[in-house]
Amino acid sequence: MPRHEPVALEDVDLSDLDGFANLRGFSQLDTLRAEDPVHWNPEPEPNSGFWAVTRYDDIWTVDRDPETFTSEQFVNMEEVAPEDRDVRRSLLETDGPRHAALRRLIQREFTPRTLLKNYEGFLRELTRKTISEAFDKASGGTTIDFVEEISADFPINVLARLLDVPAEDTPQLIAWGNEFVGNTDPDFARVMMGSEESEQYRNLPFRSPTVLDVWDYGNALRKEREGGDGTDLISILANRMPDDGIPMSQQDFNMYFTLLVIAGNETTRHAISNAMLGLIEQPDQMKRLKDDPSLIPGAIEELLRWASPVYHFRRTATKDTVLAGKEIKAGDKVVMWFASGNRDDSMFDNPYSIDVTRPNVDHMTFGKGSPHLCLGNNLARMEIRLMFEELLPQLADIAVDGEIKRVRSNFVNGIKAFPVSITPA
Ligand code: HEM
Repeated sequence: MPRHEPVALEDVDLSDLDGFANLRGFSQLDTLRAEDPVHWNPEPEPNSGFWAVTRYDDIWTVDRDPETFTSEQFVNMEEVAPEDRDVRRSLLETDGPRHAALRRLIQREFTPRTLLKNYEGFLRELTRKTISEAFDKASGGTTIDFVEEISADFPINVLARLLDVPAEDTPQLIAWGNEFVGNTDPDFARVMMGSEESEQYRNLPFRSPTVLDVWDYGNALRKEREGGDGTDLISILANRMPDDGIPMSQQDFNMYFTLLVIAGNETTRHAISNAMLGLIEQPDQMKRLKDDPSLIPGAIEELLRWASPVYHFRRTATKDTVLAGKEIKAGDKVVMWFASGNRDDSMFDNPYSIDVTRPNVDHMTFGKGSPHLCLGNNLARMEIRLMFEELLPQLADIAVDGEIKRVRSNFVNGIKAFPVSITPA
């Protein structure tokens, strides 16, 4: 990764989205890990500031202690007013037994065994199709956009299969996903987060009016499948009783469905794009994988560490506590910078280098130790493995061929334009 020049501690401001341009976010995180690992970062009104936790061990301490560091007061930087919380709450912002029951509802669908049995064949075919169509477009030396042609649509096509929605609906799912997570990037957002207009949508997830369309869509499918014996995720949500005996409410369904549409879309896309870019920038590592594709499954954890598609998730302190010598007060926002933990050299030697044979890569890309650990982590791992298993052997060469553009965000480490030229093997 070409590193941004160092940033002085007094210039660090993780709330400034433009401060993340050109990987400057990583340089800020380097400074914090070295000089002030649990750092108070003020924020502009109406927010009240947050603790930035940047070292691996401290992040782990926070993530595995949901009683002290709750998700119930929401997990992004936005401060959702107490009266708006319940109508916006999903699995992600629910703790305790209800969280566990809601999670168990579909957890079995995401175990490696189930995924392998139900989806690997389909996914491999989808990967091949995606790659073959991209290679057709790239023939004769034509520059293609790696995001548009390879990484963007693949994860949502996978999700469309898990939800069993018609293939022709996937462009709509993709557009919705982009709008939600890109709500701080003017290229994607229908209503920019923090804008005056967004106030009227403050009781909707991501403050996005788009969510109403998503709910209409999900509910139509739910009604169709109620009482049926489908095994897709919508049928399960429509028909299976959570094991705490409390039925799914309309809101539970809306929020679960929205979370599924959002969670695996952008994240996996950016994981694939960042990993590919990393291998282009560190060609010795690309060569190792191409020379010996049997290394690819073992390299996935390192690529996930390196890619770090999610910069952070937030918690809120439920009581006064001390972390790395800093006095945290009840109600303070505490933000775990997973991308920073993944660059912590007390955990990973030469953290900015990809080493495709690095052993035991215990990264924090999906969280670490939390009951909220990414539910789709095995699916994401499988998607990325299949993509690189299918793609790398087909490449004689791939080179960046234009300007890389990144998403304006301190939440996703995203690439939105990635022009490449491809020489097939
Ligand atoms: C490389 C891709 C992905 C990354 C980096 C990622 C990252 C994360 C992280 C860091 C969390 C924890 C949030 C927290 O602690 O508050 C999370 C939660 C979650 N992820 Fe993923 N994710 C990815 C792919 C997926 C996929 C493919 C799905 C499935 C469709 C998915 C579904 C979820 C769900 C449902 C949760 C909430 C779990 C809970 O609250 O119990 N994710 N993800």
